[in-house]
Amino acid sequence: MRIEIVPYNSIPYKHSLLIREEVLRKPLGMEITKGDVFDEDKHVHFVAIEEEYADGVNLNAVVGCVVLIPNYEPQTAKLRQMATLEQFRGKGYGKALVWQLEKYAKRKGMAKIVLNARHYAVDFYLKVGYQIRSEKFTEVGIDHFKMEKDLRA
Ligand SMILES: CC(C)(COP(=O)(O)OP(=O)(O)OC[C@H]1O[C@@H](n2cnc3c(N)ncnc32)[C@H](O)[C@@H]1OP(=O)(O)O)[C@@H](O)C(=O)NCCC(=O)NCCS
Repeated sequence: MRIEIVPYNSIPYKHSLLIREEVLRKPLGMEITKGDVFDEDKHVHFVAIEEEYADGVNLNAVVGCVVLIPNYEPQTAKLRQMATLEQFRGKGYGKALVWQLEKYAKRKGMAKIVLNARHYAVDFYLKVGYQIRSEKFTEVGIDHFKMEKDLRA
């Protein structure tokens, strides 16, 4: 497994859009819209890559992704569009994506990460050190909670 930062509109970025559509939009009967990718040329795109070789052929595939918005608020970055393909869950890809995103954010002088967590992902974010910071609210028709992590703690 490895985590890479990939350029906006690169092939692995486009693979990550397919994962985002599959995991975060299709279950809601939605597709990725222009609004979902608005300003993404200014954001940082992390992908998780499954390293696999068969008969000497490199089958490396993007299996997860997350997006960082640096300076979303002063010294604060936003984590969004976190997803791993269902058949690759529970193998540490999610944790590794968050870890690399936080390492990058710290290097860029960010003191805090904020995110809007779908209710069924809250326990995942609690496991990787985030705290709930709001009452329940609705976004894309799903219950969410605002969560955050102090990177200087
Ligand atoms: C949330 C998600 C990204 C986690 O990815 P993952 O690759 O399975 O995560 P990891 O394998 O690194 O899991 C890390 C730990 O969190 C736990 N975990 C993962 N997803 C969880 C969830 N939804 N609820 C509770 N615990 C979860 C794992 O069991 C693991 O626990 P451990 O460290 O005790 O073994 C993935 O489940 C997913 O894409 N879900 C659907 C989309 C989604 O909810 N995205 C977030 C929107 S806000």
